[in-house]
Amino acid sequence: MYTSQILGTGHFVPDQIYTNQYMTTLFDTSDEWITERTGIKERRIANPKENEFPSTMALQAAKMAIKNAKIDKEEIEIILLSSTMSDYHFPNTATLLQDLLGMKNKCACIDLNAACTGWLYSLVMANSLIANGVYKNILVVGSETTSSYNNWMDRSKSVLFGDGCGAIVLSKSNNENSKIHKSILSSDSSKKDDLIMRTGMARSPFFVDSKSMDIVEMNGQVVFKSAVKTMASQCASILEQTNTTKEDVDLFIPHQANMRIIEAVARRFEFPKEKVFINVQKYANTSSASIPLALSEAVEAGRLKRGDKLLLTAFGSGLTSGTVLLTY
Ligand code: UT7
Repeated sequence: MYTSQILGTGHFVPDQIYTNQYMTTLFDTSDEWITERTGIKERRIANPKENEFPSTMALQAAKMAIKNAKIDKEEIEIILLSSTMSDYHFPNTATLLQDLLGMKNKCACIDLNAACTGWLYSLVMANSLIANGVYKNILVVGSETTSSYNNWMDRSKSVLFGDGCGAIVLSKSNNENSKIHKSILSSDSSKKDDLIMRTGMARSPFFVDSKSMDIVEMNGQVVFKSAVKTMASQCASILEQTNTTKEDVDLFIPHQANMRIIEAVARRFEFPKEKVFINVQKYANTSSASIPLALSEAVEAGRLKRGDKLLLTAFGSGLTSGTVLLTY
């Protein structure tokens, strides 16, 4: 069995910013309400006129990750891309990304949807492919335009989400320290209706009523409680299973959905807040892009160095969840 390491990281966010102040011009809300309930101050919103879509944002993040990995794009052997909203129903967005990158090697391209946990699921799949010697270099991307299904008349959900992209090159490890130690993936389908988008797919084809409040349906409090409980318990469990202490962990990147959820997870799991990476105030919830985007920013800011132990945890519609412990 081989081990894998994160060789390069990259990210991209659109320039267009919707501040909480701007949200007050759309509906009855306030900066105080949004800040107090979510910690979010602003979110980035893709601009179709600027050609900002899941695939084109992925291009920017992928180029940065490949550059930082110091490999040639033709060395990528498979693209795994997670997204809750693809550019098209088909072909998949990973294929569009291969084309935009100008890759000639005809590598396999797969889209994966596990909602906000999608990128962590992809990371674990990529790690298995490397561990088993199938591939050596895998591009693992999370790219999201939540704004394309956000109902801007619905104050209860639209304030929560934003757009962005993060990417990594995961490669066969060239040193014995860098590796993924353990992963936990799960999905509690008994809560599948607590966060769901039905419109536009087989059961509700090609129908989007912009006046409907229910493009995304969410039972916020069920999601909140389940998120805190699941992420905190998976984090505790992964440390126990790997004989790792909280002191051993250098950086903790939870899914950036909501400051209150992040703080509650850290409290319940009794993890020091100084070692938690938080950027939800700038970007809101970018679904499956949130962890790779935060990871790339953490590397850029010098918060994560080679040899550091990194704990990642996510949850999302499904309700999917996942936790990974790795040495960077
Ligand atoms: O990746 C998973 C994504 N989902 C999540 O992370 C969501 C998890 N849930 C949460 O973070 C919280 O449940 C929310 C932030 C969504 C809501 O917080 P809450 O404390 O659960 O509030 P609530 O839903 O109970 O709503 C309280 C009040 C309601 O008014 P009434 O019925 O008490 O008069 C809402 O209508 O707040 C109202 N409200 C707003 N007021 C001002 C809802 N949205 C807004 C808003 N501005 N944007």
